[in-house]
Amino acid sequence: MRGAHSDYRYQLQAYAAYNRFKPMSSNTAINLSLSQSIDTTASKCVMVCQNRTCRKQGAAKVLAAFQQAPVADITVIGSSCLGKCGNGPMVVVLPEQTWYCRVQPAEVPTVVERHLRGGHPVKAMLYPHTT
Ligand code: FES
Repeated sequence: MRGAHSDYRYQLQAYAAYNRFKPMSSNTAINLSLSQSIDTTASKCVMVCQNRTCRKQGAAKVLAAFQQAPVADITVIGSSCLGKCGNGPMVVVLPEQTWYCRVQPAEVPTVVERHLRGGHPVKAMLYPHTT
């Protein structure tokens, strides 16, 4: 079934195409997410960039922090480049496309509580070019 809540799969594919993603053995995060890890019944998806630049800025710890604070009906995945390198770690919440930049692991609980559980994006952490 394809409803409004599964539209983020199309967005994931669009991001992958936009970034000319090509599956690599060393970076299969989005590949896995598209084929295995996405809960297609979830209403939202949190994508945490795990590409080179964001990883240098600590994205692996940010992804781990989201994974350690699971929220019902929301899936969390590592992704390939989200096209905003240098502003990372980058995080985008789909399907509404709320972008967060320079996310630190210690800030993840705030995003989880205010945005993912409370429905209110954390304005101070938003990527300024998408608001
Ligand atoms: S490396 Fe993360 S947005 Fe490009």
